[in-house]
Amino acid sequence: MTQYDDRVLHELDGIKEYDNPMPGWLMAIWWGSLIFSGAYLMFFALSFGEGTMEAEYRQQTQSAIASVQAYVDAHPLVPPKPAELLAGAGNEAVIDLGASRFARSCAACHGEQAQGLIGPNLTDDRWLHGGSVEQIFQTVAKGWPAKGMPPWGRALPPEELSALVSYIRSRQATNPPNPRAAEGDQVMPEPLPAQ
Ligand code: HEC
Repeated sequence: MTQYDDRVLHELDGIKEYDNPMPGWLMAIWWGSLIFSGAYLMFFALSFGEGTMEAEYRQQTQSAIASVQAYVDAHPLVPPKPAELLAGAGNEAVIDLGASRFARSCAACHGEQAQGLIGPNLTDDRWLHGGSVEQIFQTVAKGWPAKGMPPWGRALPPEELSALVSYIRSRQATNPPNPRAAEGDQVMPEPLPAQ
């Protein structure tokens, strides 16, 4: 590096401090990062122009929504036949599947025995949204979100949805302890097919 003897700032005991210019490579990094950070700020933090973070976010959100919609369109929720739901209520394997799903996803609101807690008693003959297995399936699949009943149709596999309805039918008239007070209209349980 060039040293300029005429640029000595200090000298002490033979040690000299020069006022040399900063090396070119260091200055290049300095200017380079200054310009880069200005451009970075404009495009990414302040979102000037197209292809910015915000536009990218919007575009990715839209394509995610479109792919969810495409999946939903390609996989319509086909309600099972009432006869299958009723037959399930007399089938131990189906009831076990429904009971284990009920314990995990429903008992917190409807009680361990389906006796009702935050949500209605599902063992009595009173129903807010209809007590046929077909209507219960619709309630479970679509929910009543405004009333606090979540929709399960897209959250659970179809066999578990059906098993839940069969399980609920199998709990009819079991008279569990500490039931929640009856709500809704009286509906006689549909008869189960002969086994
Ligand atoms: C976050 C609490 C909550 C969870 C979890 C929940 N429910 Fe509900 N459920 C409710 C509420 C509240 C209602 C009453 C809705 C109303 O008043 O219209 C309800 C209503 C129902 C009804 C209709 C009862 C009637 O009288 O018509 C059925 C059937 C039902 N739930 C089944 C289920 C099943 C099956 C699950 C689990 C997959 C489940 N619920 C999970 C809160 C819940």
